[in-house]
Amino acid sequence: MRRIPILFLFFLLNILFNESVQDCAWETCHEVDPNPDVITAHLIPHTHDDLGWIKTVDQYFWGAKPELVPVGVQYIYNTVIDELLKNPDRRFSFAETGFLWRWYTSNSDYDRHQLQKLVKNGQIEIIGGGWVQNDEATSHYIDIIDQMTLGLQRLEQIFGDCGKPVSGWQIDPFGHSREMANIYAQMGYSSLHFARIHYLEKELRLKNKTLEFNWSGSDDLGTEIFTRAFFNDNYGPPEGFCWDSLCEDDPIMDNPNIEGNNVNEKVDAFVTHVKEQAAHESTNQVMLLMGSDFQYTNANSWYVNLDKLIKYVNADPSKKVKVIYSTPACYTQAVQDKSPKLTSKHDDFFPYASGRHSYWTGYFTSRPAFKGMIRQASSMLQLAKQLDVIADLGPEDDSDVDILREASALVQHHDAVTGTAKENVTRDYEKQLAKGMSEVEVVINDFMKKMNPDGLDPKLVICPLLNETICKPISNMDEFTVVVFNSNGRYFNGTIRIPYSQKSAVVKDWNKNVLESQVVESFQVNQLNDSDRSNFEIHVFVRVPPLGYTTITVEKGSKSVYVHSKNKKRLNGNVEIQNEYLIAGFDAQGYLSYVTDKTTNKKRSIRQEFFYYEGIDSKDDQPSGAYIFRPKTQQPIALASNISLEVVKGSITNEVRQRVSPHVSQQIRLPKGKNYLEFEWIVGPIPKEAKDPITKEFVTRYTTDVKSKNQSFTDSNGRQVMERFFDGATSFEYHDTEPVAGNYYPITSFGYIKDENDQLSIITDRAQGMVSSNGVVEIMVHRRCFYDDHFGVEEALDEPGKDGTGLVAMGKHIILFTDLKTSATQLRPLVVENFHAPVLAFSANKNFEKFEYNKKLEYSGLTQELPLYLHLLTLEKWNKKIVWFGSSTSITMMDQNLNILQSLRVLIQRY
Ligand SMILES: *[C@@H]1O[C@H](CO)[C@@H](O)[C@H](O)[C@H]1NC(C)=O
Ligand SMILES: *[C@@H]1O[C@H](CO)[C@@H](O)[C@H](O)[C@H]1NC(C)=O
Ligand SMILES: *[C@@H]1O[C@H](CO)[C@@H](O)[C@H](O)[C@H]1NC(C)=O
Ligand SMILES: *[C@@H]1O[C@H](CO)[C@@H](O)[C@H](O)[C@H]1NC(C)=O
Ligand SMILES: *[C@@H]1O[C@H](CO)[C@@H](O)[C@H](O)[C@H]1NC(C)=O
Ligand SMILES: *[C@@H]1O[C@H](CO)[C@@H](O)[C@H](O)[C@H]1NC(C)=O
Ligand SMILES: *[C@@H]1O[C@H](CO)[C@@H](O)[C@H](O)[C@H]1NC(C)=O
Ligand SMILES: *[C@@H]1O[C@H](CO)[C@@H](O)[C@H](O)[C@H]1NC(C)=O
Repeated sequence: MRRIPILFLFFLLNILFNESVQDCAWETCHEVDPNPDVITAHLIPHTHDDLGWIKTVDQYFWGAKPELVPVGVQYIYNTVIDELLKNPDRRFSFAETGFLWRWYTSNSDYDRHQLQKLVKNGQIEIIGGGWVQNDEATSHYIDIIDQMTLGLQRLEQIFGDCGKPVSGWQIDPFGHSREMANIYAQMGYSSLHFARIHYLEKELRLKNKTLEFNWSGSDDLGTEIFTRAFFNDNYGPPEGFCWDSLCEDDPIMDNPNIEGNNVNEKVDAFVTHVKEQAAHESTNQVMLLMGSDFQYTNANSWYVNLDKLIKYVNADPSKKVKVIYSTPACYTQAVQDKSPKLTSKHDDFFPYASGRHSYWTGYFTSRPAFKGMIRQASSMLQLAKQLDVIADLGPEDDSDVDILREASALVQHHDAVTGTAKENVTRDYEKQLAKGMSEVEVVINDFMKKMNPDGLDPKLVICPLLNETICKPISNMDEFTVVVFNSNGRYFNGTIRIPYSQKSAVVKDWNKNVLESQVVESFQVNQLNDSDRSNFEIHVFVRVPPLGYTTITVEKGSKSVYVHSKNKKRLNGNVEIQNEYLIAGFDAQGYLSYVTDKTTNKKRSIRQEFFYYEGIDSKDDQPSGAYIFRPKTQQPIALASNISLEVVKGSITNEVRQRVSPHVSQQIRLPKGKNYLEFEWIVGPIPKEAKDPITKEFVTRYTTDVKSKNQSFTDSNGRQVMERFFDGATSFEYHDTEPVAGNYYPITSFGYIKDENDQLSIITDRAQGMVSSNGVVEIMVHRRCFYDDHFGVEEALDEPGKDGTGLVAMGKHIILFTDLKTSATQLRPLVVENFHAPVLAFSANKNFEKFEYNKKLEYSGLTQELPLYLHLLTLEKWNKKIVWFGSSTSITMMDQNLNILQSLRVLIQRY
């Protein structure tokens, strides 16, 4: 190969450097006052634009439905750009890439260029950078990484280097997770800013002058990030200095000849505020947030007054305050230049309370069906990205994947996945998610065609309501083919359930071997009263290779293998079910009462019950609502003392079906080949009284013999584990004002309790709230609140469900008993497997022979499954190079088999 002369190389480097000369915001900061006795006030003009809340994301962008809120994000961009161009001293900070992208793709080249120019010359700082400002309690870390990636990728595309933010911006989420700090640190951010922390911790930090601190993001990775909690309890300007058209403060009237001249008054009030705030700051730098929700629709009214404020305060050096336009990065730099001594924080900011009776712990569970759908979409997105890579699909499929990518990113917004947007806005989110998931069907079909170029068009369909035993395309068919996809890096060996119309079936694998299966009557409950439900289900044990799929066929069986309990009524005496590993026993009332481990013969007591809390509904006092959980009494109400049971026993399925009340039923099963119990709960419609309805919040409680005392553990966005203490807080002195609500913590994927010997772990299929003490774990599964809780949504959390009588939600808990030594190695892979549940695609193609084209009926993207301690996070096409996340080992084994020509983004995580 020819060597390039060194001189030439120098020349090249020079060109590259000259070309890339640009001044990002953090390189063009206004100077702070060098005098240590002078306070520098950093004015941070900004706008906080929710991607959906009171209005849908589109209505907000265009400014539609002004009767709801008279704002439009497009005008914010337009007018801010105009105002910045008028005066190069002015600054602005934009977050929420989802809106920025929408503006960028809706405007002309000329407008786009103006925006790019202002980012390049440092007048605009891009902050946050995610597609949305994601929630931190209920979003999964895989979704956070994906939504950040989408935002950052688009920013790089528009702005190059200056588009890569350095300031983390989570100003509105209702509490903050340690994993979010870790993710920001790992993504190279240099600071993190937010407003909402527990009011008692806030008091303490104000007193201690520790609003700024060093947040340790992760014990295993050793990350840390400079973090600032705002002085105010919100992210708005000091009182009297809000100059948006939404505000009511007087402008600065500075004509000396008019009677209303208020310059001195305004300057004095401002200086007073700055000095008061400075008394609580670690340095003589003071950050002032000049802007709030959807402000700057008319940027002129803000900037005219800010210009004057700067002019008049700075004109009087005796005030010892210097005012400058600034950005979060410039402020952070100014503080760090003073090298304040920072304290360290190791825990997180959950639960968040804004007052003695305002614990924001209801939203951990609000809108359970939507939360479930979000998790399902996330798993489908991982699959779609993988298939796109493995078969190297074309640009149309890339765009199909993008539709789901954007929808999935959108719903991580802190008013979406939290369940705190209006009903109509939530419908819009669901519509976008459903559209995104339906694109996966296209990707799957293109994938199969590419894998089998000479084969028949499989015409595969996905059935989004398999959870309810609904799959219309196959509902009156006896014979069909199912392709089972596994997006996990390890084998899925387990039971899948297929809706079926007949009492008997023969299921064969792709080699035409008969698979062990069982046909059972589907669980008939009034709650799921849908004529599209199939009467039967096939339960079949399948083995699906990692990053791959397998194909099975269903044919009508000749002999009746239909299995069902002979005892439909409540059974007297004990009922037992068992599988290879466990025996589960039920008492005379129909409650689960013990579990025996067959290998050790150890019998443990465990009871599971449903309860509900009645929520406070006073209009004057703090009610329970979409955000807030506030029960009337600290002990919940039990549902039933006698449960009617059905038992299903067989070679595959061993389950007890409970009808607890007209609105609560459950299937408790011991899945074949698994050493855990699975609880599939169905809750709803939660009753609504015709007059003065009572808010009700349903929980499931697992009462065990684990001696956990006041300690429990909950995950942080599904990755890290946080230690929790009942009636205890680690960063401030706990006040017991809300004994239950104040002890609820979010679980995104799992939680556990333990003693010296044993651990009980709970894995969930969606975000929920959990409280635990003394061997009892309580998880809130569904809630219906009839009163708004006064935090802005101005609507009761009263989900109508399919028929208007109230939402029915169903979901799953996995309960795993382990000894302490093997707990992590058993729990982690199970959590991952649960996230990447198999995706079933159905083909009405009756003729298996024809479907068999060229034998690619089973496939794996890996030559061998990943070891237990590695988790394949992401596999997707990437325009740059392979990107790593966290510490990791080699991925060469993947490359050998995939034989991939384009470059990839592979994120692998080591536990
Ligand atoms: C506040 O100061 C007290 C006393 O020095 C200290 O114990 C506590 O950890 C500090 N807390 C915070 C949140 O800064
Ligand atoms: C933050 O804490 C780490 C140790 O935990 C320390 O090395 C670092 O200097 C601290 N940073 C600041 C700005 O105090
Ligand atoms: C079943 O799943 C779909 C899709 O996630 C969801 O919309 C629906 O609410 C679920 N049904 C129940 C009863 O939870
Ligand atoms: C929700 O949307 C529907 C259909 O657009 C409309 O009829 C209804 O008035 C809206 N409800 C609210 C509370 O805005
Ligand atoms: C799952 O099944 C595959 C294929 O039969 C087998 O190689 C693998 O060991 C199984 N894994 C487990 C955990 O049983
Ligand atoms: C189920 O729905 C049908 C109509 O869709 C209705 O006639 C029937 O009464 C319902 N049954 C129950 C038990 O709710
Ligand atoms: C529960 O069932 C038992 C046995 O049939 C019966 O003796 C008892 O009275 C029932 N309790 C209630 C509250 O219905
Ligand atoms: C938890 O309980 C232990 C033992 O009773 C006690 O020492 C500890 O102070 C408690 N922790 C909190 C935070 O209440």
